[in-house]
Amino acid sequence: MQNRKNRKGAVLFTDYNRGRSIKKALSMSREEVLFEIKESKLKGRGGAGFPTSTKWMLTAAAKSDVKYVICNADEGEPGTFKDRVLLSEYPDLVFDGMVIAGYVIGAKEGIVYLRGEYEYMLDSLNEYLEVIRKENLLGKNILGKDKSKEGFDFDIRIHLGNGAYVCGEETALIESLEGHRGEARNRPPFPVNSGFKGKPTTVNNVETLAAVTKIIENSGKWYQEHGTDKSTGSKLFSVSGDCEKPGVYELPWGTKISELLKIVSAKNTKAVQVGGASGICLDKSQFNRTLGYEDMPTGGSIIVFNESRNMLKVLKNFMEFFVEESCGQCTPCRIGNVKLLEGVKMIERNEFTFNYINKLKELGATMQVASKCGLGQSSPNSFISILENFKDEILNTGLNSTSFGNGGNNGK
Ligand SMILES: Cc1cc2nc3c(=O)[nH]c(=O)nc-3n(C[C@H](O)[C@H](O)[C@H](O)COP(=O)(O)O)c2cc1C
Repeated sequence: MQNRKNRKGAVLFTDYNRGRSIKKALSMSREEVLFEIKESKLKGRGGAGFPTSTKWMLTAAAKSDVKYVICNADEGEPGTFKDRVLLSEYPDLVFDGMVIAGYVIGAKEGIVYLRGEYEYMLDSLNEYLEVIRKENLLGKNILGKDKSKEGFDFDIRIHLGNGAYVCGEETALIESLEGHRGEARNRPPFPVNSGFKGKPTTVNNVETLAAVTKIIENSGKWYQEHGTDKSTGSKLFSVSGDCEKPGVYELPWGTKISELLKIVSAKNTKAVQVGGASGICLDKSQFNRTLGYEDMPTGGSIIVFNESRNMLKVLKNFMEFFVEESCGQCTPCRIGNVKLLEGVKMIERNEFTFNYINKLKELGATMQVASKCGLGQSSPNSFISILENFKDEILNTGLNSTSFGNGGNNGK
């Protein structure tokens, strides 16, 4: 198993004295803090990769006396567990990042939307909030900023999710926070203008907020020096599956899949799923690909499969997940995922035609553009990539599963 030393990186998993970046940020103007974030070229770590400085600038510019910072700690993507490590081992980085976000956008309240399954962390996180409140890193007039004028007030509360994958999507998350059923909203308006309770809201991933703390501590220029030109800084990868050292690793963006496989001691690797169930499945010929926005952007879930794995079963498992987790609000996602799963089962029973499988791939492509939110837009990724990259194995699994059906024979 991985020990803590393995996961150490150059940016996030480093020593930090809590409150240090808050102190520094409060000695700067809001514009100066925003400048550092912009210079860092930080992109959101929740998966979509939206520039953090742009999101904050838009929320700061939105006209309202009440604004919110939301920390997205839903972490529902299969194979992702890096935010859990950040929250349990580096809560100072995350909460300081929220305070800095609140300062920049002009919010007084921050909410952590915590994955329901992480309930076990709730008491210790609340105790930690109490400690930093006592240190005046949270609450009224934080660190006595502008004592002469109006102080900077900001507090954080934790809201427990209830186990729905879609509630990681920022607008469904906001609906859920408001006490409604977790369903994605129409956009526009975007949360930066009309988010929680209709007020301007910035929603950021746990890792994004932790990175902010390190950027303010060390400068945007320093952050930019890590990683690559388009993918600055480091990235946390949650690595699971067939390897000797699964765990959370901080690596520079620009790391190749093959390098990562060596680091985690993966042997006889057949496939690597990058980005969780909603990501892309690579075969051996693609292990020279690079993790980063230039090539393979990802929220950080890496699942390793060795030669013993049956890729049709892997795909079936992913599609069952999406059928279960589709909120059912839009037709492409509600019906599309069921159809894709049916297709997998048809291959399994050897009752498929190539023509029908190709039609399902087209359906997947339609879902990618016609679904209302990122769930249905990304759920066909594994269907399409596994069928393309492991075509022979998949179709042979079907052909071998019964004596012989109309599958390969039909070929239309
Ligand atoms: C189905 C679905 C689930 C998501 N789950 C998460 C999640 O668990 N955590 C997260 O930070 N972002 C998640 N996102 C992305 C969020 O909608 C949003 O882009 C992100 O929280 C923004 O933060 P960032 O700019 O810091 O990346 C999810 C998106 C979709 C479509």
